[in-house]
Amino acid sequence: RTSISELITAKMTTTPDFPEPGILFRDLTAVMADGPTLRAVTDALLDEIPADVDAVVGVEARGFLFAAAAAVVRGIGVFPVRKQGKLPGDVLAETYDLEYGTATIELQPNALAAGSRVYVLDDVLATGGTMAAAIRLLERAGYIVAGVGVAIELTALNGRATLSGYPINALLTID
Ligand code: PRP
Ligand code: MG
Repeated sequence: RTSISELITAKMTTTPDFPEPGILFRDLTAVMADGPTLRAVTDALLDEIPADVDAVVGVEARGFLFAAAAAVVRGIGVFPVRKQGKLPGDVLAETYDLEYGTATIELQPNALAAGSRVYVLDDVLATGGTMAAAIRLLERAGYIVAGVGVAIELTALNGRATLSGYPINALLTID
């Protein structure tokens, strides 16, 4: 049986100098485009999502895909953390340093009752800046963050240290 890390490695693409010089861009488009691989990745993420989680949170943009897939398979809800300016109404905002530049992400705080247990999914963990900001948003909204899951962890950028205290499930780690 092929391991999940082998399945991801086989379909992942790596593009040098995108979106900026010096950045090695890991793209999971072909991983998600293949039905059996999408299901295997979804199941591997779900393996570490506790049974008492009320909803999955997807981080824009590719985190939406993983989160929606996991939510439907588990039969729980899903809601987004989005880039600034995309969500209507009163939103919470957090600004963070990215591997390249800075960014602001936002959350609608009342999509789900405060005190709900949530689990955050994204495609890649690099510096951890995005995920840490998403966790800050979710905790400001009163949610309990049960853990985070990613398809790929770029270990050299030490995102795991940024997220100390939260369980992290990474399906593939790359130096
Ligand atoms: C990428 C990736 C993660 C984040 C990881 O998203 O999809 O969300 O960077 O980097 P970090 O751990 O250093 O924060 P990006 O901001 O490029 O936007 P996108 O997902 O909308 O393409
Ligand atoms: Mg992203």
